[in-house]
Amino acid sequence: MPITTCVFDAYGTLFDVAAAARQAASEPEFPQLKDTWQSVAEFWRQKQLQYTWLRAVTGDHTDFWTVTQDGLDWALERTGLDGHVPLRERLLQLYWELQAYPEVPDMLKALKTAGMNTAILSNGSPDMLNGAVRSAGLPDLLDDVLSVETVGVFKPHATVYDLVQARFGGNKDNVLFVSSNGWDAAAAAAYGFQTAWVNRAGEPMDRLPGQPHHTLSDLTDIPKLAGVL
Ligand code: LAC
Repeated sequence: MPITTCVFDAYGTLFDVAAAARQAASEPEFPQLKDTWQSVAEFWRQKQLQYTWLRAVTGDHTDFWTVTQDGLDWALERTGLDGHVPLRERLLQLYWELQAYPEVPDMLKALKTAGMNTAILSNGSPDMLNGAVRSAGLPDLLDDVLSVETVGVFKPHATVYDLVQARFGGNKDNVLFVSSNGWDAAAAAAYGFQTAWVNRAGEPMDRLPGQPHHTLSDLTDIPKLAGVL
C-alpha cells in the first residue's frame, strides 16, 4: 500500500534527548556535570520511560512532564547530584528546547513537498511538544502534533496508535511510523503500521511481538522509504 502519512516519535527520534545534559555540561555553572552528564542523561531517559510503562500498566496516568521530572530526580540522586536546585532547573528548562537531529528539517521538507501528511505521535504533553517543535523551527513542516494526553495512557497502548487514523484516515499500512525506540517500533509494527526503527546506537533488536520493517541509522532515508524520492 502506498504511504500517505509519515508519523514520528518525538523524544530520541526527532529530538536529541541527550542534548539537555550535554549542553548543561558545557556551561561554566555546572562543572559537576563534566564527567557525569552521560550517566545523568542515560539514567534520566531510562527512568522516564520506565515510569511511563509502569503507569500505563497500573492505570495511574500522569502527564509526561511529571515523569520527566521524576526521572530526572532519580537520575540526579543516583549520580550524587541531588539537591542542586539550579542544575535541576537548567536541565528541565533545556528539555523544552531540545535540538532536532541535523537531518530533520530537510527530511520533513522533502515529505511535505511531496504532499505527504506529517505528524508527531508522542508521549509528550502538548505544551512540551509544541515548545520543542517551535524551538527546532519545525511548525510549518508538521501537519499535527498528536499527544497521548488525548487518550490518557502512554505508549505502547494501542489507543495511542489509533490517534493517527482518527486524524488522517486511510489504512494502517498507509502509515509509515518512525521511532528510535525499539519497543515503540515493535509495538507500532504489531499494530499494523509500516514501521522504521532509527537505531542510531546500533542496539540489538527488542525481543517483542512485532518487528520493524526497516532499520535505519538516521532519518535521511525516510523520504525514500515513503516513496517520494
Ligand atoms: C515519545 C517518547 C517515547 O516521544 O520518546 O513518545
